[in-house]
Amino acid sequence: MKVAVIGTGYVGLVAGTCFADMGNDVICVDIDEKKIKTLNEGKVPIYEPGLDKLIKKNVSAKKLIFTTNFDDAIRKSEVIFIAVGTPPKPKGDADLSYVENVARGIASVAKKPKIVVEKSTVPVQTCKRIMQVLDCNEGDDNGKCIKHLVVSNPEFLREGSAVDDFLHPDRIVVGTDDEKAEKVMDKLYKPLNSKILFTDIQSAELIKHASNSFLATKISFINAVANVCEKTGADIEKVAEGMGLDDRIGRNFLNAGIGYGGFCFPKDVEAFIRISDKNGYDFKLLKEVQAVNKGQRELFLKKIEDSIWNLNGKTIGVLGLAFKPNTDDMRFAPSIDIINTLLEEGAKVKAYDPEAMGRAKTIFKDKIEYCDDMYAVPKDVDALLFLTEWDEFKKIDLEKVKKMMKQPFVFDGRNMFNPKDMRAMGFKYESIGRL
Ligand SMILES: NC(=O)c1ccc[n+]([C@@H]2O[C@H](COP(=O)([O-])OP(=O)(O)OC[C@H]3O[C@@H](n4cnc5c(N)ncnc54)[C@H](O)[C@@H]3O)[C@@H](O)[C@H]2O)c1
Repeated sequence: MKVAVIGTGYVGLVAGTCFADMGNDVICVDIDEKKIKTLNEGKVPIYEPGLDKLIKKNVSAKKLIFTTNFDDAIRKSEVIFIAVGTPPKPKGDADLSYVENVARGIASVAKKPKIVVEKSTVPVQTCKRIMQVLDCNEGDDNGKCIKHLVVSNPEFLREGSAVDDFLHPDRIVVGTDDEKAEKVMDKLYKPLNSKILFTDIQSAELIKHASNSFLATKISFINAVANVCEKTGADIEKVAEGMGLDDRIGRNFLNAGIGYGGFCFPKDVEAFIRISDKNGYDFKLLKEVQAVNKGQRELFLKKIEDSIWNLNGKTIGVLGLAFKPNTDDMRFAPSIDIINTLLEEGAKVKAYDPEAMGRAKTIFKDKIEYCDDMYAVPKDVDALLFLTEWDEFKKIDLEKVKKMMKQPFVFDGRNMFNPKDMRAMGFKYESIGRL
C-alpha cells in the first residue's frame, strides 16, 4: 500500500518506519528541513531503541523515503496519516492548528479521494472538523468535488519501547463509519496479527484521552497512597505489590515517585479536562489527579530543604533528566520543575542523563553544569537526586559515590534503592512512600 505519514516526530517516524517494514511504500514528510536532512544522512534525530536499524533496513530496501515535499507525498499515496504535534495552548486546550494545516494542504493538493487517518492525539470531534476542511476542496481534474474519507486511529506507543509497542500492540483502535476505509485499515494492520477494535470515530478519539487520563489517575492514586504511607509507617512498595496482585488492579502504573511527565500525560489530561468542560462536564476527578501530580514535586523539594536546610549556595547533583528511562525526551519532565526551583533558591546544579543531555542544554542553557558521565555528578555535592530510573543508575557503585560527596544526602525520586541498605552504607536517604 502507498502510505504517507505527515509529521516525522516520535510517532510519525516510528509509525512510518514500521509500516514500511510491514511491506508498504512509505513517504515520511516533515516541515522541519533539518530533521529531514538528518534522516537522509542516515542519522536518527531521536533516541528510540531499535529504530535506527529498522530505518536503515527499509531505506536500503527503498520502502521508506524522507522528504519535505508534501504535495508529492499526498499525490503518490492512498492512505495519509496525520502525525503532527498537538501541543497544549496556554489555557490547556490542544493546539489543533498543525492538524488543520495538514488537512488544508491535503484538500488543496489531492486530485483523487484519499483515506486520511488522524493518528495524533486529538480531542473528541476533531475528525468532524478535519472532514469539514477536506470537503472544502478544489475538486478533481474535472472540477468535481472529491469525497475524502477520514479515520481516527489513535496511537498508544510509549517512548522508550516505541518500535516494539507499534509492532506488538495490545490493541489497535480504528474509528470509521465507512466500509471501504475499514477494509483498507484492516489490510494495513493485518501483518501485526493484533486485536483491532473497529468503532465509530468519536469513540475512537475518546478512547485515547480516556486511556491516558486513566493511567495518569493510577499514578496519582499510588502517589497519594504513598503520602499516607509516609505518615503511617507503611511501605508503598509492599502496598503496591499487594494491590497489584489483584487481577482487577494489576501492578503496572503503581510506581510511586515524583509524578508523571512527558509529552502525553500532562497535556492529554489537561486537554481532556478542557474538552469535557466545553461540552458541559466538570471533570473534577482529573483536576485532582493533576493537583496530586504537581504536589509530588513540591513534596520532594520540601524533603530536600527539610534535610539540607538552606539551598542557597549548596551544590546539588542530579542523575536523570529525561521524563522516563530509554528516551531522550524531556518535554514536561519533572526534572525541569525540580531543577528550576533549585536554581531559583540559589543552588548550583550538576547533572547527567545517558540520552537527554542535548535536549537539557537547550532548556537550561548555561544555568547548570553538564557532566560527561554519572560519576562526575556526585563529586563535591551536598545532595544527590535520582530523577529518572535508568538501569545504569541502578547499578551505580554507591560506595564510590559516597566517598565523592560533600554530604551523604540522597533523594531518590524513583524508589530505586533499598532504604535499609542505603542507611547501612551511611547515606541520609529519602525516597517516596517509604520510611
Ligand atoms: N510521543 C509519544 O509518546 C506519543 C504517543 C502517542 C501519541 N502521541 C501523539 O502523537 C502526536 C505527535 O507526537 P510526537 O511526539 O510524535 O510529536 P513531535 O513533536 O515529536 O513530532 C511532530 C512533528 O510534526 C512536524 N510537523 C508539524 N507540522 C507539520 C506539517 N504541517 N507538515 C509536516 N510536518 C509537520 C513537526 O516538525 C514535528 O517533527 C501528538 O498528538 C502526540 O500527543 C505521542
